[in-house]
Amino acid sequence: PRVAVVFGGRSSEHAVSCATAAGVMRAIDRDAYDVVPIGISRDGHWVLTDGDPDRLSLTSTSTPEVTADGAGVVIPLATTDRTLVALEPREVPKSLGEVDVVFPLLHGPFGEDGTIQGLFEMADIRYVGSGVFASAAGMDKHHMKVIFAGAGLPVGPYVVITDAQWRRDPAAAMDAVAALTYPVFVKPARAGSSMGISKVSTPEALEGAIEIARTHDLKVVVEQGIVGREIECAVLQGRGTDEPRVSHVGEIEVTAAGGHEFYDFEAKYLDDGAVLSCPAAVPDHVAAEVQRLARAAFEALGCEGLARVDCFYTDTGDVVVNEINTMPGFTPHSMYPQMWEATGLPYRDLIDELLQLALT
Ligand code: DAL
Ligand code: MG
Repeated sequence: PRVAVVFGGRSSEHAVSCATAAGVMRAIDRDAYDVVPIGISRDGHWVLTDGDPDRLSLTSTSTPEVTADGAGVVIPLATTDRTLVALEPREVPKSLGEVDVVFPLLHGPFGEDGTIQGLFEMADIRYVGSGVFASAAGMDKHHMKVIFAGAGLPVGPYVVITDAQWRRDPAAAMDAVAALTYPVFVKPARAGSSMGISKVSTPEALEGAIEIARTHDLKVVVEQGIVGREIECAVLQGRGTDEPRVSHVGEIEVTAAGGHEFYDFEAKYLDDGAVLSCPAAVPDHVAAEVQRLARAAFEALGCEGLARVDCFYTDTGDVVVNEINTMPGFTPHSMYPQMWEATGLPYRDLIDELLQLALT
């Protein structure tokens, strides 16, 4: 079959998506699949690329970038010597109808949020992963929590600040946050990879953090910080199985040496600021509870194919659902493929299952 691997895109997770695509394109079985690598530039142009995984890698010194004009731009970023590696387009694909299935390896808005899924539905094109509604709900940290809570899943305390509330009365919006215990995490409602997230320890720092989050999304979610360990679980609804399967649970530990306040972008992708372990060293009943919640979260949103569910195992012994990601990262640092490897499902077979499910 011909597989269109789509990556890059219009969200702030553009480079992460390129790195995800690099991981998948390295692992995909070329004897079984004919890969068509399609990049989407930040301004929304679709281009056929050479799909060379080496050029798509995200490192501490270079950031992959899909460009529409093919010019080999190298843009040094202000604070570091990181460069943007341009991916040269060959031609614009005429029609997506020439492929059997699309693997939309896009993170964030305009890719993980139901928009591109809607396009594929309209054009009757098969694709990997969740449909329109689950993608949209999984992208929005506000509505995601509403659905989880409605399904009886434990979620932490949070406050939503809409654009209208903020513009009408910022002081009142911030007063609502006083119901939470500090520290709090201020997050854009629809973003990923910790983009625009601040950990806030005092009310004085709240306003600035809200303004930062609002540069990513005008709707902001303020979450009460949860004291505990971050435990994640991968969900896969593979070929021939009705029940979603769950992986061993994995743990993220942010190392003190990296100087990171939390599992932020740098710790996620650029340095050794986080240690991943799977299976996590937690009591069996805790692992089982995380797996139960992961499956329940997947079903509450009506997800398909794959998702990664992130939980907290609190110091008081409870498990709380933090979030779901309907197109989790597949970078070398990413938990989703690593948790499946640790559960006995190699990366290549994982990709094959996802594609086969979409094809049938
Ligand atoms: N949003 C990133 C890609 C993740 O959840 O892995
Ligand atoms: Mg997370």
